[in-house]
Amino acid sequence: MTLTPDPERFLSELHALRHFGASGIGKGVVRPAYSEADIAARRWLAERMDAAGLVPRFDPVGNLFGLAEGPSLLLGSHSDSQPEGGWLDGALGVVAALEVARAARAAGGPPISVVSFQDEEGRFGVTTGSAVWSGTLPLEAADGLIDHAGLGFAEARGRMAEIAGDFVDPGRFRGFIEMHIEQGPTLDTAGEHIGVVTDIVGIRDMRITFRGQQNHAGTTPMQLRRDAFQALARFNAEVNDAFRNVVTPRTVWTIGHVALHPNTSSIVPGRASFSMQWRDSDPDRLGRMEAIVRETADRVAGEGGLGLEFGPLLGLEPVAMDPALRAALEAAAESVAPGRWRKLPSGALHDATNVARLMPVAMLFVPSIGGISHAFEEDTDEADLVAGLQVLAAAVDRLRLQARS
Ligand code: GLV
Ligand code: MN
Ligand code: MN
Repeated sequence: MTLTPDPERFLSELHALRHFGASGIGKGVVRPAYSEADIAARRWLAERMDAAGLVPRFDPVGNLFGLAEGPSLLLGSHSDSQPEGGWLDGALGVVAALEVARAARAAGGPPISVVSFQDEEGRFGVTTGSAVWSGTLPLEAADGLIDHAGLGFAEARGRMAEIAGDFVDPGRFRGFIEMHIEQGPTLDTAGEHIGVVTDIVGIRDMRITFRGQQNHAGTTPMQLRRDAFQALARFNAEVNDAFRNVVTPRTVWTIGHVALHPNTSSIVPGRASFSMQWRDSDPDRLGRMEAIVRETADRVAGEGGLGLEFGPLLGLEPVAMDPALRAALEAAAESVAPGRWRKLPSGALHDATNVARLMPVAMLFVPSIGGISHAFEEDTDEADLVAGLQVLAAAVDRLRLQARS
């Protein structure tokens, strides 16, 4: 019997999930890891897993698994969001997994387990929940991480302590497939419906702090200032220049969070603390960029008479997708959307990167309208959401047939 997922039930659950932490602006959500909305959404997902015949289990960091009996294929993604997030980033892969797990049970197999990883969006680290589960990040190191508002990871995960069980043994899973929105413009621009991921880029992320002298903005002559914002502005311009010698058109870098102290009009800022993140598919290039970041910050601080601190360097290495799982997705994509799909790399990070340490992994994408994500406007045509669901189910079906033959 082939798997026949129910598109109506899938779409209705996907819409139900976006009401947890609904922003009130479009379909956007505000559901950062360990917020009330995130925990409520996870409890609701656990009920849906239970109703689907899976055994729900929260682990010590809040990853939620819906376990099938015996060895199984793991499907899923994450249900936390960015502080201003879209309704599909992560949620799509979890709800599609649930629907395929139900369809597989109805068809008499194969056994499918479901996961929603915690803090994929990096409130505390970089894909924190799956990083801890996979052994990429020791739990003790994770417990030392703090978010931009000063909340510690240990305290945050304590909010889920009453429902937490043990870590789930990864040995029970044969592989992992994550369905996701593309979060970029490639598929939408080409008018294609499905992307099969070839590999996921690597990332480095570090907090940098310049310490100058807080002073009066009216009386302090320009040449005597040790202005932390001016140092940050100079750092940004010089790093952009220096990167030109090492980057490719696919390399990206971002200063996305800045905290200026005391952050007011009439005071020369004494402290500028900011996130510096860069991504590329070549680990050597990531290393060369790190050297440029450190040298530039050092020079800017030295020349301006400022203090300088580097936070811990967080990161994930680039990973390739598993050829057998990928082939199943490619064949499924051709059957659902003949000639209207492509292979492509992922510039966004995903839990699949961490899970790849433990088992074969693969990913499929559906288009993001206008290439927009990490914003309330994020959206995807419902026909494409359903096409993605069908590709996921068809790939699972193919893998079952291959396992039998
Ligand atoms: C994950 O959302 C990322 O930042 O790529
Ligand atoms: Mn995501
Ligand atoms: Mn995201």
